[in-house]
Amino acid sequence: MKYEKIEYKLKKALDTERFIHTKGVEKTARKMAEIFHEDVEKAGLAGLLHDCAKCLSLDKMNKAVRNYPVDELMRNSKSLLHSAAGRCLAESVYGVTDPDVLEAIRWHTTGHANMTRLEKIVFLADIIEPSRKPFPGIEKLRKLCMTDLDAAMHEALLMSLDHVAKQGKPLHPDTLSALTEYESKEQIAKRIKEGEEKNED
Ligand SMILES: [Fe+2]
Ligand SMILES: [Fe+2]
Repeated sequence: MKYEKIEYKLKKALDTERFIHTKGVEKTARKMAEIFHEDVEKAGLAGLLHDCAKCLSLDKMNKAVRNYPVDELMRNSKSLLHSAAGRCLAESVYGVTDPDVLEAIRWHTTGHANMTRLEKIVFLADIIEPSRKPFPGIEKLRKLCMTDLDAAMHEALLMSLDHVAKQGKPLHPDTLSALTEYESKEQIAKRIKEGEEKNED
């Protein structure tokens, strides 16, 4: 499917705010792909489509993944499930066949162990794109995203850990697996324990 048609369909599927975010992720992913010698077109397409399922109901997301493996935690959470649903819709509705692009969409929310460079770029571009509401540490992360992909991933994953700990929620096992690329399991366990203790205070 041609870019214009994808964009046209996507604009109808998303609300205005989500569409602006999407264009920001596309632009940021392209820029990062240039810096880190990754395929710019793949990064742009994955960025453009990463949230294509975001504005659907949980029921519709579950229908989109009916032939795709997802765990129980995902099945019951719109914020987790939209990435797998987006991967399925990118293929069935938007005609994407490139597995690299599909996987980058699939893993943009949780990450997973041994991510590809393209997956890391889309994961990070999603967090730092220009229209994101500022959060503590965003400027530091933005700089890292343009200079050191793995240092940026490490930082972003720690932020996720901190974010879910504050909400008193468990970190998705795939995000924990992603973190093991950067820290030992013992170190991660220590961080989680410290986070829980802080929560109890
Ligand atoms: Fe998303
Ligand atoms: Fe997003």
